[in-house]
Amino acid sequence: MSDSTTAATTEADLIIEVDHVTLRFGGVTSLLDISLVQHRHEILSVIGPNGAGKTSLFNCVTGVYVPQVGSITFRPESAHPVTVVGRKPHRVNRLGIARTFQSSRLFNALTAFENVKIGVESRFHTGPVGAMLHLPRTRREEHRGDNRTKELLEFVGLRDRADEVASGLPYGDRRRLEIARALGTSPELLLLDEPAAGANPAEKADLSSLIERVRSEIGISVLLIEHDMGVVMSLADRIVVLNFGEVIAEGTPSQVQRDPAVIEAYLGTVNENGHEPPAAEGAPPAVAQTRQNPSAHSGGNSPSSEER
Ligand SMILES: Nc1ncnc2c1ncn2[C@@H]1O[C@H](COP(=O)(O)OP(=O)(O)OP(=O)(O)O)[C@@H](O)[C@H]1O
Ligand SMILES: [Mg+2]
Repeated sequence: MSDSTTAATTEADLIIEVDHVTLRFGGVTSLLDISLVQHRHEILSVIGPNGAGKTSLFNCVTGVYVPQVGSITFRPESAHPVTVVGRKPHRVNRLGIARTFQSSRLFNALTAFENVKIGVESRFHTGPVGAMLHLPRTRREEHRGDNRTKELLEFVGLRDRADEVASGLPYGDRRRLEIARALGTSPELLLLDEPAAGANPAEKADLSSLIERVRSEIGISVLLIEHDMGVVMSLADRIVVLNFGEVIAEGTPSQVQRDPAVIEAYLGTVNENGHEPPAAEGAPPAVAQTRQNPSAHSGGNSPSSEER
């Protein structure tokens, strides 16, 4: 892909820096003193048991939640670092940070093309007045937007389904459509919240290869929450592990797999050796999918579907 979504530059090393972030909801501490950095062009995965704080972290990075303590800086080493905390989500998106959600947010009644075009249009410079007056500049932008939308559908393998309504698409296609829509906003950093959840093995393989191409062909940095350890271990350059809102480990996939604190977080116990990886190919046991953080209680404060 060759146009404006090829947003990555070589100007700086880090794409995002999260510095001592703490997020509380009443008595619930969702994130406690979280610090992490992500390098440009890196696929960084955030893993951890249910309720560990992964989506809360995404919500802080995208401006949905405002942490009580700490800072989040986009392009921290560039000539123009930008503070994320305190900016509204649409402003954060305009900076170059896009996301997909844990549960689907597609416009079900719209076609695949229209869903992606909405993302692309968010970057338009001409407004509704120009559209009403059919100004040449607006028509040119419309044309470019249509081409860009088709290009993105092609990129995610949905060009042939452009005119199908989103609700009728198979599950794996819907997940890829969400990624295409996020790419339409021309991000430098793409946050994916459990893109492979609910996908079958073939769909997971397709999604994994798409995510790798997002990085290698478009040059976008990817921050990836995923429970499927096969997907994580095959894609991630580095992994950060959260448990009870805290970072308990970080490193390469093989380092993390052997980390006793990680094994304990997933299994609830460390075996006698204390150093056995959760599973040969990095698949932590099924408890990883279901174990709840005991401090995680939704009560009346349960996150709305807007936030998940
Ligand atoms: N808006 C909110 N109000 C109250 N508590 C919240 C809110 N958002 C998150 N939390 C709490 O923060 C903790 C972390 O939740 P979060 O959704 O970030 O976990 P997660 O790691 O994404 O879990 P999962 O793997 O199940 O998606 C939980 O205890 C959750 O109930
Ligand atoms: Mg989550």
